[in-house]
Amino acid sequence: MADKGKVIWITGASSGIGEAVAYEFAARGAVLILSARRADALERVREACIAKGAAPEDVLVLPLDVTDEASLPAKTAEAKAFKGRIDMLFNNAGISQRSLCVDTDMATYRKLFEVDVFGQIALTKQVLPIMIEQKSGHIAVTASVAGKIGVAKRTGYCAAKHAMMGFFDALRTEVAQYGIRVTTVTPGFIRTAISENALKGDGSQFGVVDKNIAAGMDVTDCAKVIMKGFDSGKKEIAVGNGPEMKALWVKRFFPNMLFKMVEKMG
Ligand SMILES: NC(=O)c1ccc[n+]([C@@H]2O[C@H](COP(=O)([O-])OP(=O)(O)OC[C@H]3O[C@@H](n4cnc5c(N)ncnc54)[C@H](OP(=O)(O)O)[C@@H]3O)[C@@H](O)[C@H]2O)c1
Repeated sequence: MADKGKVIWITGASSGIGEAVAYEFAARGAVLILSARRADALERVREACIAKGAAPEDVLVLPLDVTDEASLPAKTAEAKAFKGRIDMLFNNAGISQRSLCVDTDMATYRKLFEVDVFGQIALTKQVLPIMIEQKSGHIAVTASVAGKIGVAKRTGYCAAKHAMMGFFDALRTEVAQYGIRVTTVTPGFIRTAISENALKGDGSQFGVVDKNIAAGMDVTDCAKVIMKGFDSGKKEIAVGNGPEMKALWVKRFFPNMLFKMVEKMG
């Protein structure tokens, strides 16, 4: 397997998409560095990775908060010291929103951007020099269909994910010369804890599994599509099985039709 022995650093590995992708890499014999804020949840994922075939000495739990910029140089040094290199950084940590613009505090917008944008950029900036020195590497980010289409109650989330698409598309053009790949992943609705963890306008937790997420794609199926995209060298991986995936196509070819559709939904 091409991924055997590769050092894969995944953020947001304590649940959902990050956890499911970790299991796919574990089954391929990759070395895993698992990051998110909750150390206990990461330990659970580590045990499950080992059960799926990863060697115990090949899975590191590295708790971190992507918004704690000052901590990231030391965390990156720890990640590099684990096996002496970092082959892939999967910037997957993220938080969503469920509130109308008129009800959303500026502090909540800033929090969404701290996690979904500045956290990803800050960690990427730490890892980039390592990959440039290696003259190889792969940086991926979980953006979203919301990074391509604006929908109601997600003004901050859509803005953040659009920003990520722009940032990583631009970064790709700068780092290809060093043998570094950049992949954006744009999931539709995937059955994870994303809506429960989403922020309401006042910054508190939404706490509800909304119906689109409940009807969304199974997270293991999602991870398998993402792996297939990584394997085939795709620069952008769309993953989902609901009508939102068709909306990507409509937006591209018939943008006015799409704007009318989402306005009605909103
Ligand atoms: N599910 C969907 O329908 C969907 C669709 C499009 C895009 N996405 C994106 O997919 C990514 C993963 O989300 P998910 O669906 O798997 O939801 P999830 O189950 O809520 O996972 C979110 C992950 O991000 C971590 N995280 C949140 N804030 C963090 C912080 N400040 N520092 C470090 N880690 C943090 C969480 O861990 P801790 O709480 O332990 O920190 C958790 O592991 C996100 O970027 C999300 O925007 C999801």
